[in-house]
Order: sequence, then structure tokens, then C-alpha cells
Amino acid sequence: MIVAIDGPAASGKGTLARRIAGHYRLPHLDTGLLYRGVGQIMRDRGFPLDNVEIAAAIAENLDLADLDAEKLRTREAGEAASVVAAHGPVRRALLDLQRAFAAQAGGAVLDGRDIGTVIAPGAEAKLFVTASPQERARRRFRELVGRGECADTDEALAAVLADIARRDERDSGRADAPLTVAADAVTLDTTDLGIEQAVAAALAAVEARRR
Ligand code: CDP
Ligand code: CDP
Repeated sequence: MIVAIDGPAASGKGTLARRIAGHYRLPHLDTGLLYRGVGQIMRDRGFPLDNVEIAAAIAENLDLADLDAEKLRTREAGEAASVVAAHGPVRRALLDLQRAFAAQAGGAVLDGRDIGTVIAPGAEAKLFVTASPQERARRRFRELVGRGECADTDEALAAVLADIARRDERDSGRADAPLTVAADAVTLDTTDLGIEQAVAAALAAVEARRR
């Protein structure tokens, strides 16, 4: 069984993907990490993010085993990811790796922006996880404050909301694999759901599709 989970930044898709993968004992790939990895390497090496050729070459040679999920969770990496993710050649360079992960025997859970539409259009279960921009900003803000990456002030929260809005616009507006709801996806709005409620709703949606 392939479970495809898409949605905008800080909607809770990663949390749900991990929990669903744990429930069914399936391997899980957070595909955002790939784009974060490319963006961060570009930054670390001082390449401008709009250099498509270099970004595509980095994507081509990316090794999942080298990606440090903890280090790539920063705001800076997320922002760089959404810039390089708009380059078609970068997306194409990361396609085979993601499709191979999805196709492994026994199945897999993948989360990102284009799993149900491009990476695994034949997935048995597709979820589109969303929440209001204000709620997503609040969630991301709490994480950032918890990690000491941002001050616990109203101004800082407003800045996180602006980051989220910019990323939504970039991810939804790009020509190549924009963030859209797959025709056969179940939309799960988690604005008013706690994590356990969201997990229960997600598992129910996956179960309904398996029958
Ligand atoms: O966790 P969050 O939603 O903030 O970010 P992420 O899932 O790690 O993704 C970071 C960026 O990578 C997104 O803003 C997208 O631009 C890009 N991305 C993508 O284009 N396609 C995917 N399948 C996954 C991520
Ligand atoms: O992967 P994505 O960026 O979509 O989101 P995430 O990393 O799963 O969740 C972002 C933050 O929101 C995490 O700190 C989650 O614990 C929290 N969260 C929440 O408060 N309520 C939910 N229903 C889902 C996630």
C-alpha cells in the first residue's frame, strides 16, 4: 500500500505521515527533506539559489543518507527549499529516488507537495492535509520558539505568518508540480484538531480507501 500525503507548510502532514507509517509498519519518506537538502547545500557553498544548473547537479548527486533531518528543519533551509523546488530540472533530478522509494515491496508512506499528483499518482490512499494559515503559523512559531530560533513575541509570530504565506504562494504558483489537491485525495482540515484527533481521522481515511 502506498500512502501519499500532501499539504502546505506546517499543516501537520509530517506528523501524520510518521504516525501512519508507524501504524502500518511502512517506511516513510519526508520528501521536503530532499529539497531542503539541495537548498541548504546551495547556501553552504555560496551558490545563488536561482542557479538552476548547479541546483540540478546537486539534486542529481543527493544522497538520502547524508541528509541531517535535524539540521534541515531551520527556517532558512525551508525558504531555500521552496526556491530550488520551483526549478523543473531540480524536481526531475529527484523524481527517480522518490518513485523508487514509493515502489518498494510492501509499500511506503511519502509526504510532500506532489506525492499524490506526480510521484505516486496510483497511490491507494491520498490525503491532502491542511489548516488555516494562522493556525499553521502558530504551530511553526511554537516549534521555532521551542528551538530558540525565534523570539516569543507577536512581531515574530507575524513574521512567521508572512513566511508561510510567501511559501504557500511560491509552492502553489509554480509551473512545475504546483501544490494542488489530487482529484482522488481526501482533504483533512486540521485547524481545529489536536494531533490525536488528526491521527484518528487520517487513519480512518486510509482504512476507508483500503477496502
Ligand atoms: O515542513 P514544511 O511543510 O514547512 O516544509 P517541507 O515539507 O520540508 O518542504 C519544504 C519546501 O520544499 C516546500 O515549501 C516546497 O517548496 C518544497 N517541496 C516540494 O516542492 N515538493 C515536495 N514533494 C516537498 C517539498
Ligand atoms: O510536516 P508539516 O510541516 O506539514 O507539519 P508537522 O511538522 O507535522 O507539524 C508542525 C507542528 O504542528 C508540529 O510541532 C506538530 O506537533 C504540530 N501539530 C499540531 O499542533 N496539531 C496538529 N493537528 C498537527 C501538528
